[in-house]
Amino acid sequence: MLNDRSSALSLLETRRSGRPRDMVEPGPDEAQLREIVRIAARTPDHGKLAPWRFVHVPRHARRALADLLHRVYRLDNPQPARLEIEAVDRLAHQAPTLVVALSSPLPDTRIPVWEQELSCGAACMNLLLAAHAMGFTAGWITGWAAYSEEVRRAFARDGERIAGFLYIGTPRHPLEERPRPSLDLVLSDWAAPADT
Ligand SMILES: Cc1cc2nc3c(=O)[nH]c(=O)nc-3n(C[C@H](O)[C@H](O)[C@H](O)COP(=O)(O)O)c2cc1C
Repeated sequence: MLNDRSSALSLLETRRSGRPRDMVEPGPDEAQLREIVRIAARTPDHGKLAPWRFVHVPRHARRALADLLHRVYRLDNPQPARLEIEAVDRLAHQAPTLVVALSSPLPDTRIPVWEQELSCGAACMNLLLAAHAMGFTAGWITGWAAYSEEVRRAFARDGERIAGFLYIGTPRHPLEERPRPSLDLVLSDWAAPADT
């Protein structure tokens, strides 16, 4: 039972994504990251399948990730421009902490894969919230690398997909709010269809 409801709501209301390229130290230390992922895993999960997992890319492995991304990017873009090279490099090096979220649905259960994928999205969202609650900012991006078969194979087992690259750190600048959908667009009362 929460004993400070207004601060919990304020935490939810003040979360917003940071731009990974604008994240600086500090990021979570090892114990904090484990706590963030432990909380992320407290996610609705029909059938208790845990159809998701997280792979941390430690600092010492970022160079190897950059090499991999450059190699894969050049398969489709043999002569990348300088800005493209920098953008690929940023994917690997930006922000203090990088966690790759994997969707790991089990196809042969009674739980539809769709529901398992929804659970993965919820786990990612929980991770963003836990990072925010710990005083960090986090950002969830996909982009070409998340959809590349070569990158997928570097992180995932058969049947798994990259759900996103989750970056965590401290914002270099105060985060700006973005427009949010009007409540009228996203909330309505159901009325029975005329022919029932
Ligand atoms: C699955 C998924 C993938 C996303 N991929 C990207 C991306 O590749 N690049 C990007 O700028 N934002 C991407 N976003 C959007 C940002 O994560 C974030 O939602 C947006 O910056 C607004 O942040 P906020 O509403 O959390 O404040 C993605 C969001 C989701 C849910």
